[in-house]
Amino acid sequence: MADIILGIESSCDDTSAAVIADGVLLSNVIASQQVHKDFGGVVPELASRAHEQNIVPVVSEAIRKAGIEAKDLTAIAFTRGPGLLGSLLVGTSFAKALSLSLDIPMVMVNHLQGHILASFIRQPDVPVREPSFPYLCLLVSGGNSQIVKVVSPTEYEILGQTIDDAVGEAFDKCSKMLGLGYPGGPVIDRLAQSGDPQRFHFAKPNIPGLDYSFSGVKTSLLYFVRDQMALDPHFLENNKEDLCASFQKTLIDILLQKLIRAARETRIREIAIGGGVSANSGLRDRMVAEGIKRHWNTYLPERKFTTDNAAMIAVAGWFQYKAGVRTPLDVAPVSRMADF
Ligand code: KG4
Repeated sequence: MADIILGIESSCDDTSAAVIADGVLLSNVIASQQVHKDFGGVVPELASRAHEQNIVPVVSEAIRKAGIEAKDLTAIAFTRGPGLLGSLLVGTSFAKALSLSLDIPMVMVNHLQGHILASFIRQPDVPVREPSFPYLCLLVSGGNSQIVKVVSPTEYEILGQTIDDAVGEAFDKCSKMLGLGYPGGPVIDRLAQSGDPQRFHFAKPNIPGLDYSFSGVKTSLLYFVRDQMALDPHFLENNKEDLCASFQKTLIDILLQKLIRAARETRIREIAIGGGVSANSGLRDRMVAEGIKRHWNTYLPERKFTTDNAAMIAVAGWFQYKAGVRTPLDVAPVSRMADF
């Protein structure tokens, strides 16, 4: 009998549920919350409320689309953290209720583990191409920027991480600063496609080892734009595309410099990316180009699996389920990585 896993993701502002059967995706439903758009960022209380409204219809839809019934489920995988506590509580409590009513086990998943394992989401009729272990994953999202050595589906080693802002935060904050809106990553990505990435240059950090820093490049852009606007009030409007392309290139250069070093030092040539920022066209193109140049096997999850989704939670949960992990009913969600 196949292991049929329901995944539930509610760590931030997307309510998502997915069903996989022996690792193959049968459905992946995502309700993105539009309520935050006017606020320039996610409002935690509104997010919790929207999850509470969405969770039952989203899970029902995922089960219906998978062509199964709830009684066919083997286990429920849910995001325990990190994320917004009020949002996580909705998914966790729902998972507990369903686990009790169906009398099936729950498996808690670290949200970041989901992003790291996104390359293992198998789709019907899509040829399987998955990293072999150990591989390196460049995990880039709104809350994290890390180089992770993935030893096995349940064993990780963080080789480097940001000491201040995450790269997604740099995209979002700079977009806000330039008046381009939220979330900044997709907007900057779109504008960068018609800009000149070589036109402007921003300060790059000099951080030892494999750690990252993104706060300096943000400040460098801020001061540069401020100085140019003092000379020409239309500077921003007239140079938006080039500013975005140059800024994006700087972030990608910073990310790749350390990733290349990590690959060299570990002698690992299986390289994957994951997290919201891995949707970025410039980063994806660059990963492919560096992969060819350096003889890496490069794995880029499909764009729809880069941002928050329950398919990756179901897959990560399935790996844990197979390893014998079962989560007790008194589990509580955690907002921070350090508490995991
Ligand atoms: O992984 P994610 O959905 O949420 C977490 O942070 O866990 O990542 C969200 C981040 C945001 O900072 C958003 O601006 C960024 O991913 N992002 C992008 C793109 N799409 C989303 N950044 C750059 N280019 C994109 N196309």
